[in-house]
Amino acid sequence: MRHAPYGGLLVAVFAICIARAAASPTVDETLPPNYVPSGKLMYQQHCATCHGIDSKGTGPLASLLKTPPSDLTSLARRHSGT
Ligand code: HEC
Repeated sequence: MRHAPYGGLLVAVFAICIARAAASPTVDETLPPNYVPSGKLMYQQHCATCHGIDSKGTGPLASLLKTPPSDLTSLARRHSGT
């Protein structure tokens, strides 16, 4: 019987977790299941912060890095055309 109050607390925490999970939308609820972002959108979301929107290595985070982000527009030229 000494542990009874903890049981109630556990149930309350569990209920709060379920309520929060139900309240926050998941990717599946906001996007159609066959959604595939374009390469342009993925670049803007994942790469442009460093490489810049024009891919020249001048994104907003570039100045904070020890090694400057590469200019991706000269990638093939710098790698023997491949
Ligand atoms: C946190 C900053 C950052 C992000 C975000 C980032 N990069 Fe980079 N990237 C760099 C830096 C810095 C280098 C240069 C590394 C080096 O020279 O050692 C680099 C190098 C590269 C290179 C090699 C270029 C070369 O000259 O050989 C490619 C390709 C590249 N990044 C593509 C991407 C792509 C695609 C994304 C997104 C999916 C991306 N990067 C996201 C910082 C970033």
